[in-house]
Amino acid sequence: MMRTSLFSRRTIRQGAISAVGSVKIKLLLACVIVFTLIALVGRTPSFKGWKHHDASLYRSSPPRKKYALLINTWKRNDLLKQSISHYASCPGLGSIHIVWSEPDPPADSLVKFLNHVIQSDSKDGRKIELKFDINKEDSLNNRFKGIKDFKTEAVFSIDDDVIFPCTSVELAFSVWQTAPDTMVGFVPRLHWDDRSKGNQDNYVYRGWWSVWWTGTYSMVLSKAAFFHKKYLSLYTHSMPSSIREYVTKNRNCEDIAMSFLVANATGSPPIWVKGKIFEIGSTGISSLGGHTEKRSHCVNLFAAEYGRMPLVSTSIKAMDSRSSWFW
Ligand SMILES: *[C@@H]1O[C@H](CO)[C@@H](O)[C@H](O)[C@H]1NC(C)=O
Repeated sequence: MMRTSLFSRRTIRQGAISAVGSVKIKLLLACVIVFTLIALVGRTPSFKGWKHHDASLYRSSPPRKKYALLINTWKRNDLLKQSISHYASCPGLGSIHIVWSEPDPPADSLVKFLNHVIQSDSKDGRKIELKFDINKEDSLNNRFKGIKDFKTEAVFSIDDDVIFPCTSVELAFSVWQTAPDTMVGFVPRLHWDDRSKGNQDNYVYRGWWSVWWTGTYSMVLSKAAFFHKKYLSLYTHSMPSSIREYVTKNRNCEDIAMSFLVANATGSPPIWVKGKIFEIGSTGISSLGGHTEKRSHCVNLFAAEYGRMPLVSTSIKAMDSRSSWFW
């Protein structure tokens, strides 16, 4: 009797174990399939996907105020054409200012093309202005020189090799409108206080992975950010000239300098807005060797220049609640 019951119990348990095992495998397979599908669906619009975003998202509340697009470009007319063609279709855009620092002025064909694009995009009664800010000297400070006749207070500073869908741009613009002194952007970066090492350089600049790992940031880069136009004149006329000289000489860190400037003025952190980014150019300087060391050096140098560390860390991220999955 004992033996039989033991035996039967064992078979039952084995059967149960193998059943649980196959359920687990099936669950795992289902998960793999679902995530593969999600990844595929998410990937398909990567080619010009910024065009397919639902316009009805912002049609419900048309923006009352406009912003100026401040785009920095360097010998990449094809990227410039793509960028301008895209942003001209965003409803809140009031004007486009192209920071031009090449030795030759923009070609007639380029100007003609851009004007044509803007006209075809402003058929709904909008009038978008196009301006070139031609610089003799090639310096990264040019991007913040501040074109005199900005009609809007909001400036959307952007590099020519990244594109954000209009829905993301309009979301960032409305976040900026609630905090117009703050820098509001899509590309967060972090500085770490590393005094424990006991060396001279106290601060370390950290990239995207550190932001992702810690959920914390203290800068948003001016390659994709909104800020008030007053910061352009502060950058050019009030910021310590040694910082501008460093930026010109080393061709780097103008974005960190802008983050310091705004943080010093506000005493507050910037705001990171969730946005879908499409990189249309080849990778920029951030892929070159020694990038982090150079950026860390800037952070330490600028902190010394201010006599303190103005950057403030935060972990707040703004997003459109309609686009969140669950809540
Ligand atoms: C930093 O902010 C303070 C207080 O607003 C201001 O007095 C000072 O000039 C600013 N420093 C720089 C370098 O801009």
